Amino acid sequence: MAKVTIDGIEVEVADGTTILNAARQIGGDVVPPAMCYYSSLKETGGKCRVCLVKVTQGSAKDPRPMPKLVASCRTPVMDGMVVQNISSAEVLEARKGVVEFLLLNHPLDCPICDQAGECDLQNLAYEHGAAKTRYEEERRTFEKIDIGDKIKLHMTRCILCYRCTFVADQLTNNRVHGVLNRGDASEISTYIEKAVDNDFSGNMIDVCPVGALTDKTFRFKSRVWFTKPLDAHRDCPTCSGKVVLWTKGEEVLRVSARKDQYGEVKEFICNECRYDHKNMKDWVVEGPRHIERNSVISQNHYEKIDLQKLKLEVDRQLTFQKGKQLPQSNTSQA
Ligand code: SF4
Ligand code: FES
Repeated sequence: MAKVTIDGIEVEVADGTTILNAARQIGGDVVPPAMCYYSSLKETGGKCRVCLVKVTQGSAKDPRPMPKLVASCRTPVMDGMVVQNISSAEVLEARKGVVEFLLLNHPLDCPICDQAGECDLQNLAYEHGAAKTRYEEERRTFEKIDIGDKIKLHMTRCILCYRCTFVADQLTNNRVHGVLNRGDASEISTYIEKAVDNDFSGNMIDVCPVGALTDKTFRFKSRVWFTKPLDAHRDCPTCSGKVVLWTKGEEVLRVSARKDQYGEVKEFICNECRYDHKNMKDWVVEGPRHIERNSVISQNHYEKIDLQKLKLEVDRQLTFQKGKQLPQSNTSQA
């Protein structure tokens, strides 16, 4: 086990745990954002740099600070390590710079993008972005491509996080993933097209942090905040069958996998559940999906308040403000 202190809060974690996952064990505001790391996919991380943190003490044995900011999703903790995330002005400034880089080529088309309201880059830009861009060159653009009959690739919005290629690599049969070319000519390879027949290819849509891969069966049907998300399940022979139904009245507009508080799917779902069961009668509805209050999706969203959970969250925030140890968070997000 290793003891690590992040933003003044100490936590004990298993050896080999990354700084990001140690921060997630603390929970709350000390957790760095992540655009490319995805805990349920192997080898992810190290691409986007939004999770940069400052290591002010390397370990108990060697207390020297690390000379540069490090990617927390790829850096394992050492016993006695001291890390700064939101308590470091240098980290916040660097993150602002990373967001500026991510937005160099990303179009600011949120008003017409299907991912609006669920886009990690949109949220990150609100928190860390600058109001103006200094970029004067022409942004790179691509034609929209159909990846099979259910997924639309809008490469112009892609931030090259590689998550979808890991889905293609790890959840489908063949090694068909890839990013073609280098530098600003990089693009998600059409080899992914060859993975679309696989039962689990639809998960590329859920792992995409921006609106580059969208569900053609849902595109332009509704803004996500006008829908009512419900937890539901069915007896599926291929996957867990545990999904979120995005509904309007009795109509099921979209079926997606369930995401945790970090926007990650823990149980991937099959394409049959995702595309072929858009009828409420096919599902056992468990109840409204829990949505964080700060999400635009929470508009018009009512659910029974768990007072115990609410009290725990308020206690967490108050304890955090006092700079003491935080109890574990139990909250989850759609
Ligand atoms: S298409 Fe989406 S998931 Fe794939 S690399 Fe681009 S941003 Fe990431
Ligand atoms: S989340 Fe760590 S580099 Fe992308």
